[in-house]
Amino acid sequence: MRPFLSFLRNGIPTRIEAFSPRRTLLDHLRLRERSLGTKEGCGEGDCGACTVALGRLKDGRLVYEPVNACILLLGQIEGADLVTVEDLARREGEGADVPHPVQQAMVEHHGSQCGFCTPGIVMSLFTLHEEAPRPLTREAVNDAL
Ligand code: FES
Repeated sequence: MRPFLSFLRNGIPTRIEAFSPRRTLLDHLRLRERSLGTKEGCGEGDCGACTVALGRLKDGRLVYEPVNACILLLGQIEGADLVTVEDLARREGEGADVPHPVQQAMVEHHGSQCGFCTPGIVMSLFTLHEEAPRPLTREAVNDAL
């Protein structure tokens, strides 16, 4: 077993030397990184408030999937690209904070809910935006949510 964890954090190579094998990804984000945009709701994989995106190589490209950070152990993100709600504006802005198209659509169409569930909704929509065939249908969006 390797003595460290290696993954991408929004495309940046990241390494963690020591951590409890029982530490969840959500605890790592909120308690260690202090990335507080990812929320804890139910804490047991039911509500989606803690949703983040994990990208893994499939057929030569990164494919993003939504995951519940509250029930995913930190060690399970080995080799993945971890993207959280805080990262979206940075992805679009190349240094400046420019809302991701999903965030912009949420603003323009009054899609925001309370502060707990909106980040999870945005991250589910982000993975849909990255992966779904175009054109996106209303049914596809509803299914993703
Ligand atoms: Fe509810 Fe993770 S906090 S699914």
